[in-house]
Amino acid sequence: MIGVLVSGTGTNLQALLDAGLPVSAVASNRRAAPALERAGPVPTASFELDDYSDRALRDAAMADWLRAQGARVIVLAGYMHLLTPTFLERFPDAVVNVHPSLLPAFPGAHAVEEQLAAGVAESGATVHLVDEGVDSGPILAQERVPVRADDTAETLHARIKAAEHRLLPRVVGELCAH
Ligand code: GRF
Repeated sequence: MIGVLVSGTGTNLQALLDAGLPVSAVASNRRAAPALERAGPVPTASFELDDYSDRALRDAAMADWLRAQGARVIVLAGYMHLLTPTFLERFPDAVVNVHPSLLPAFPGAHAVEEQLAAGVAESGATVHLVDEGVDSGPILAQERVPVRADDTAETLHARIKAAEHRLLPRVVGELCAH
């Protein structure tokens, strides 16, 4: 059973649902995240940092809730907060993230803009296991996409996301089968 963490638009959550994967819970750090509306009948909950005295307590509450919903594999699908060790220790080797670059190149929250500014000829999507670092942790799979001369951040991100939507359900499906 899969728990998905979201902060934004949730197109990767949609790809997991469309693939028929067993998503049992969707959690967000933002109550207003549009992604939550995609969950349909799947239970959702928000864990805003302001509601807790620190990050570790927030992450413990989120981990408790996800486990109570049966989640054993956790997917960060556009989740824009670092997870504390408290959370990661509850799901050892079972937290994966999707990122819009060919990691280890261009980690961080502005990867698409930074790749355009650097003038790279090729970009892509990466799915990796999560550790305490920023977009670090063992890489599970990557898909390459070209960068075009007239690309904007929007057009490049759309091409990368199309790759993410192919890659993420495949890798998560494999992880659940083990
Ligand atoms: C994706 O590009 C993902 O790689 C990055 O955040 C974006 C999330 O998009 N971590 P969405 O919310 O799944 O549409």
